[in-house]
Amino acid sequence: MFNVTEKKHKPEYIVQRGHREPASRLIAVGGGKGGVGKSFISSSLAIFLSQMGYKTVLIDLDLGGANLHTYLGQGLPDVGINEFLANPDLKLEQVAQKTLFKNLFLISGASENYDSVELSNVQKSRLMSEIFKMKADFIVLDLSAGTHALTLDLFLMAQEKIVVMTPEPVSIENAYRFIKSCFYRRIRRFEYQLNLQEELKEIMRNRKRIGIRTPGDLLHYVHSNYPEAGSDLSDLMQKLSLNIVLNQGRTQNDMKLAPSIRSVCNKYFGIHCELLGEIEYDNAVWQSLRQKKHLLVESPHSRLYTQLMKVARQLAKRHKRQAAA
Ligand SMILES: Nc1ncnc2c1ncn2[C@@H]1O[C@H](COP(=O)(O)OP(=O)(O)OP(=O)(O)O)[C@@H](O)[C@H]1O
Ligand SMILES: [Mg+2]
Repeated sequence: MFNVTEKKHKPEYIVQRGHREPASRLIAVGGGKGGVGKSFISSSLAIFLSQMGYKTVLIDLDLGGANLHTYLGQGLPDVGINEFLANPDLKLEQVAQKTLFKNLFLISGASENYDSVELSNVQKSRLMSEIFKMKADFIVLDLSAGTHALTLDLFLMAQEKIVVMTPEPVSIENAYRFIKSCFYRRIRRFEYQLNLQEELKEIMRNRKRIGIRTPGDLLHYVHSNYPEAGSDLSDLMQKLSLNIVLNQGRTQNDMKLAPSIRSVCNKYFGIHCELLGEIEYDNAVWQSLRQKKHLLVESPHSRLYTQLMKVARQLAKRHKRQAAA
C-alpha cells in the first residue's frame, strides 16, 4: 500500500517504462451512443484477426443487451459471463465458446438463466482482473452504450481504445461526452498517485470561477499552478491515445467530418486521437444479419470488407510492433 512518503515519489506508472500490461492485446470498442455499430465493428475486427491466424476472444460486455452471438451467426450460447459472475470458482476462459470461425472464441454476455445487470464491486474487479490475465493474442471487448463506470473502466484498461461514432450530430455529441468521461475517469483513477486529490477537488468545485470549461482547460490550469503534477498529468493523458472509427458514412461530406473530429479531440481534450477507420453505410450489413450471416462472410467483395480489413490490419501491425519493442 502507498503511504504518505511514498506518495511524494514519482508515480510508478510514470517512472517505469510501460506499467503492467494485460496478458493479451486488448481492443475495446466503445462510444457513447447506442446503435452506432460497436457490435458490428467489434465482431468484424475479431473475425478478421482470427482469420489472420491470431487466437482471438470476443467478449460481449453489453450485459443488458448482449447480441454478439447473433452477429456471429450463432444461437444463444449455453454459458457466458453471467455464469462466470454467478460462480466464483469459474475462470473466465472456461465460459469461452468456440465459434464458426477458426481461432475465434466468444464469451457471451447473454443468458437465459441470470439477467441481473448491476454488478457488485467484487464481481466487477473479478471480471476485470480475469480479462487482464486471460491469454490470447487479441481480446476484443464489445462495450455497451453510455458512460457507466464499468464501461469506462473496461475501455480504459485496453491498449487499443476505439471510439465508434456515426456522422450524425447526436452521435458526435455522445462520442465527445464519452471521451470527456474517459478523461475524468482516468484522472479519478490516478489522482492519488498524482498527489493532487485535494487540489483537484478544489479546482473542480471552483471550475466555473476559474474558467475551466474543457478537459484541455483543466490540463492547462494544473500545468500553470502545479508544474510537476501538471506534467505528470499531461503524460498520463498522452498515454490515453484514442482511435476513432467513423461508421455508417453515407456521403462524401460525411467522410470529410473525420479529420475535424480528430482535431477537436486533440485540442479540446488534450488527448491524442487518431482516425483509425472510415466505414461506409451499406444495406448489406442488415441484409446479411437477416440471413444470420456476418457481412464478412456474405459479401467478401464489398467496399466495407476492404475498409474493415484495413482497420484490422492496422491493429495487427501495431501489435507486432509492440511485441517487437
Ligand atoms: N456500416 C454500416 N452500414 C449499415 N448498417 C450498419 C453499419 N454498421 C452497423 N449497422 C447496423 O446498425 C445497427 C446497430 O449496429 P450495432 O448493433 O453494431 O450497434 P451498437 O453500437 O452495438 O448498438 P448498442 O449500443 O445498442 O449495442 C445494426 O442493425 C447494424 O446492422
Ligand atoms: Mg452492441
